[in-house]
Amino acid sequence: MEIRSTTEQDRGVFIDTLFAAFARFPDAPADSGGGVWSALEMDRALLAVAPDGRPVGTAAMYSFELTLPGGGLVPVGGVSAVGVLPSHRRRGALTAMKRHQFAKARERGEFLSVLLASEATIYGRFGYGPATYTQRLTVPRHRGALTAPRAGGTDTGSVEVLRRAECGEVLEAVYDRYRRAQPGALSRPPRWWSLGAGQPPIAPAPRYVAVHRDADGVPDGYASYSLDEPDSLVVDEIIAADDTVYTALARLLLDHDLVSEVVFKHFPPEHPLRWQLVDFSAGQLTRHTEWLWVRILDVPRALTSRGWFGDGELVLDVDDPFLGEHGRYLLTVRDGKADCVPTDREPDLSLDVRDLGAVYLGGTAPSTLVRAGHIRAHRPDAAARADALFRAERPPHCLHWF
Ligand SMILES: CC(C)(COP(=O)(O)OP(=O)(O)OC[C@H]1O[C@@H](n2cnc3c(N)ncnc32)[C@H](O)[C@@H]1OP(=O)(O)O)[C@@H](O)C(=O)NCCC(=O)NCCS
Repeated sequence: MEIRSTTEQDRGVFIDTLFAAFARFPDAPADSGGGVWSALEMDRALLAVAPDGRPVGTAAMYSFELTLPGGGLVPVGGVSAVGVLPSHRRRGALTAMKRHQFAKARERGEFLSVLLASEATIYGRFGYGPATYTQRLTVPRHRGALTAPRAGGTDTGSVEVLRRAECGEVLEAVYDRYRRAQPGALSRPPRWWSLGAGQPPIAPAPRYVAVHRDADGVPDGYASYSLDEPDSLVVDEIIAADDTVYTALARLLLDHDLVSEVVFKHFPPEHPLRWQLVDFSAGQLTRHTEWLWVRILDVPRALTSRGWFGDGELVLDVDDPFLGEHGRYLLTVRDGKADCVPTDREPDLSLDVRDLGAVYLGGTAPSTLVRAGHIRAHRPDAAARADALFRAERPPHCLHWF
C-alpha cells in the first residue's frame, strides 16, 4: 500500500474516498468545498493508494495550537478524516498512514498529535491516550434556580441576545481569549471561522448568542443556543473569561421562559455550576466521555513544555511500542518548570506512551492508571507523587470538534 501526500488537486477524490469509507454521500459535489471540508489542509493530508492505483484510504491533519497546563501554547497536528474503504480494511492502510503522519509531524517540529476518536478502540495501539473529558448537563427549568455567591463573585457586566450572524467577530475574539487560559483547549484558526467550518457556533447555523460584556462594555463571554423540539433549550457552548461570567450566562439560560429543560452539551468536568444550583441534585450528568486524545512524539519536550504545580522528582520508564522506542527519564520539577533528562536510575513508574498521553494534561491521575493495571509503580509512594506532580491548575477541557 503506497501512502502519498495530497495537493489541492486531490481535494475532490480525498472527500469522495472518505465518504465511501463511512458509507455516506457528500451533501454537495465533493470538490465544491463548503463547511468543514474547505478547512482541510491539503498539504498535510494523506491518501493510501492500492497497487492498482486507486485511492482507498484517507487521513487529514489540521494545524492547531493546544493550551497546556500552566498556559503554554504549542503547535499540534489534529488528525481527522481517517477512513479506509471497506474493501481494503485490515491490510495495514491506517497503520502506514499513522507512521507517515508521525514522521512528518516530527519533521515539522511538532511533539504532540491530537484527535477525536470515532471508536475508543482504534487509537491506543498508535500511542494515543484519552486526555480530556466532557459530559452533558441537563437541568429541568423549574429546578434551575442558582444561589447567590456566599463569598463574592457578583457579576457587574451585562448580557445582550444576538443572532449568530450578527456577532461573528465577537465570538472569535472571546473564544481566542478563553482557549489561551484553558488547558486542553484548541485554537480555532481564523480560517475555520471565515469558512464556517465545524460545529455551531463556528458554523453559521441559525443560533441565538447571549453575549456577555464586562463593566466597560468589552465582550468577555458568550453562550450559543437554540430551542430543540419540543421545549429543550440546547446550549452548544458557553465560553467565558471567568467563572462569574459563566454563571451569568448560565443563569440567563436556566431562567429562559417556556422551556422544560436546559441541556449544556459540553459541560466541563468539575465545573462549579452544580454547586451553585439551589437544588444540587437537579443537574443530571450524562454522556460522560473522553474527548481529546493526545499522542506524545517527544517525551522530554512534552514534559518540559507544560507548567507544573508542585516540586518533585520522578523517574519515568516510557515504552513506545508503535514507534519501537524506549526511554528512561528523570523528571525534576522546581518552581513550576521541569527538567527532563535521560537517566539510568531505577524507575518510579513504568508506562506506555499512551498512558503518558492520558495523564499529560492532568485530566486523569496517574494513580488511576496504576490501579487499572496499566502503569506499574515500583515504589509505594510513586503513584501519589505522580498524582501531585501531574495535576493541572484546572481539569483540562476541549470542546472544539474537528
Ligand atoms: C478504522 C479504520 C480507519 C482502520 O483502518 P485499517 O486500514 O483497517 O487499519 P489497519 O489495517 O492499519 O489496522 C491496524 C490495527 O488496528 C485494528 N483496528 C482497525 N480498526 C479498528 C477498529 N475500528 N476497532 C478496533 N481495532 C481496529 C486492526 O485490527 C489492526 O490490529 P492488528 O494490528 O492487531 O491486526 C477503518 O476500519 C475505517 O475506515 N473505519 C470506518 C471509519 C472510521 O471509523 N474512521 C475513524 C475515524 S476517527
